[in-house]
Amino acid sequence: MNRNQVLVLGGTGTTGRRINARLAARGITHRSASRTSEPRFDWNDSATWDAVIEGVRSVYLLPLDGEVLTRPFVKRAKELGVERVVLHSGRGVDVPGYMDLSAPAAQTHIDGEDAVRSSGLEWTILRPGWFAQNFSEGFFAEAVKAGEMRFPAGDGAATFVDVEDIADVAVAALTEDGHAGKTYELSGPRALSLNEVARILGKARGKRVVYTAITVAAFVAESVAQGWAEEDAKGFAEVFHPLRTGLDAHYSSGVEEALGRKPRTFEAFAESAARIL
Ligand SMILES: NC(=O)c1ccc[n+]([C@@H]2O[C@H](COP(=O)([O-])OP(=O)(O)OC[C@H]3O[C@@H](n4cnc5c(N)ncnc54)[C@H](OP(=O)(O)O)[C@@H]3O)[C@@H](O)[C@H]2O)c1
Repeated sequence: MNRNQVLVLGGTGTTGRRINARLAARGITHRSASRTSEPRFDWNDSATWDAVIEGVRSVYLLPLDGEVLTRPFVKRAKELGVERVVLHSGRGVDVPGYMDLSAPAAQTHIDGEDAVRSSGLEWTILRPGWFAQNFSEGFFAEAVKAGEMRFPAGDGAATFVDVEDIADVAVAALTEDGHAGKTYELSGPRALSLNEVARILGKARGKRVVYTAITVAAFVAESVAQGWAEEDAKGFAEVFHPLRTGLDAHYSSGVEEALGRKPRTFEAFAESAARIL
């Protein structure tokens, strides 16, 4: 048994893929786990948990949004000998007005943070803000490719964080000493409005992108016309609230604290993503 093994939950996802790649490049033994891995790991089926936890020293814990399963998972991990957990949470979980704190998605992170802090394990919490990669491989990518982003975000701005930085911080916390007991809030270096984002993405891909601010009601109506369920469209519109109101426009120093360097710029992200935009 290799007790230095790292377990990466959500290993096929946006952050997990990049963490796996870094661990592989460093020759660190690791196990990627999700519903499509072997052995299979399903948050909703606790009978699948032990097989991925056994033999592991450190866990990158990407929780299941909308569920409060981090606490029982951490308890089981500790029983099976895990020593260190790096929890992926989200910026804004302790900011009044950022989100509906009673909503299931908020509770995932609020209860999850409390669970790791009180676990008795070595813990590090990552609180990233909006991912830059939302524009290249996440829920804004189709709009960017189509050349127009029609969002209910007004003229709000955010300090979008590059997921490459999140992965660098996660790997440092998983594999190095000095990160235990730290909560790293992660952002990019400066706030950008969606007009600036559109200009930078357009320049990088060599094809114009525009941002059109629309009302929440118009966004919901357009999403429903595209086949969304009305409730889902309203939920998605709600996600823009922190962007619209400037709650995500501040700089957070987590990348510098964890890595001793500045976060990557949105321009650098856009250049590296240009071929898929
Ligand atoms: N996007 C943003 O701007 C942003 C900002 C701050 C925080 N966040 C947080 O980031 C998190 C998402 O991280 P991400 O982007 O790396 O993930 P992601 O790309 O959405 O991927 C989700 C991962 O979870 C796995 N998964 C899904 N359901 C599962 C289940 N029932 N059991 C086991 N594994 C399951 C998926 O793999 P399989 O399909 O193979 O199972 C996949 O590997 C969320 O908690 C979100 O709140 C996002």
